[in-house]
Amino acid sequence: MSKITAAITAVGGYVPEYVLTNQILETMVDTNDEWIVTRTGIRERRILKEEGKGTSYLAIQAAKDLLEKSNTDPKDIDMVILATATPDMPVAVTGVYVASEIGAVNAFSYDLIAACSSFLFGMSTAAKYIESGRYKKVLLIGADKMSSIIDYEDRATCIIFGDGAGAVLFEPNEEGFGVQDEFLRTDGVGRPHLKIDAGGSILPASAETVANKQHYVFQDGRTVFKFAVSNMAEVSEKIMERNGLSGDDVHWLVPHQANKRIIDATANRMNLPEEKVMINIDKYGNTTSATLPLCLNDYEKQLKKGDNIVFAAFGGGFTWGSLYLKWAYNSN
Ligand code: UT7
Repeated sequence: MSKITAAITAVGGYVPEYVLTNQILETMVDTNDEWIVTRTGIRERRILKEEGKGTSYLAIQAAKDLLEKSNTDPKDIDMVILATATPDMPVAVTGVYVASEIGAVNAFSYDLIAACSSFLFGMSTAAKYIESGRYKKVLLIGADKMSSIIDYEDRATCIIFGDGAGAVLFEPNEEGFGVQDEFLRTDGVGRPHLKIDAGGSILPASAETVANKQHYVFQDGRTVFKFAVSNMAEVSEKIMERNGLSGDDVHWLVPHQANKRIIDATANRMNLPEEKVMINIDKYGNTTSATLPLCLNDYEKQLKKGDNIVFAAFGGGFTWGSLYLKWAYNSN
């Protein structure tokens, strides 16, 4: 019997309707469109405004989009992994609610939390379940309502993040398509540089933590930028070397959308021209766990069976890595 690989067989995506432009942000904090575009590449981001709706809402919409487009019966799904940094609430697993709401009644589910690398690490996890031969349909969703943890008075973070969700379906493949290799890394040196101080087990919520704004994301942007630039480029180069791929052999780079300058540095190191790099940071900003699947969703029609795709991400923790996948289908 030939080896089972884990192939992506369908994608879906969702972003909320409300568009928060750089021009609107200019009225909220001391910033300007020119600074944001040249330093980050972001022009606008989407925000989930409706009260009472959380990350699960975004995830459910993305999953439903995938199910509809691919004509998949949710009852056939074996497992739902929700990659997120903003679960609906502590303890009650958000992915479980999502699975029930989409009708994946025969699936088990859990959340996978690895900051901006959640989806990349989730791809690795989903692939292992498929490669084991025990599971046939694993739905991986990356979803984040970043607006729920952002201080819209802090210009260092509020210009960067947006809300959104993307989903992919992994299925077994016996023709060699799907996940080929991965190179995943972590380093606790990153902990002070990108974090939320309160609301966890070290500093539970109190009137004081709220007054001190300790439930919002803190980022030392300059330090994170330095680590992200060198590490994302390094793991992308490494995965190419290990698999004998040159820039000509790689059809697409799917990079985490944190900063256009980090993406450009990674593409340069891989010897890739701009037209081989998936970019949507201008429209959505940094949607954390949703950046990679939203790229796939936006570019799906351009992908061809057999395309060599390198995914790369970097995030809090620090967490980072690259993954090499052969695309399994033509969508036209
Ligand atoms: O997805 C998870 C991983 N995260 C990342 O990869 C993010 C990595 N970091 C970054 O993308 C960048 O560091 C930022 C976009 C966050 C910031 O860009 P930067 O080029 O590193 O700016 P900086 O923090 O070094 O600030 C440069 C200047 C400062 O002024 P002075 O000290 O030079 O006078 C800031 O106060 O720009 C100022 N500044 C702003 N000006 C206008 C900072 N934020 C803003 C702003 N608008 N929004």
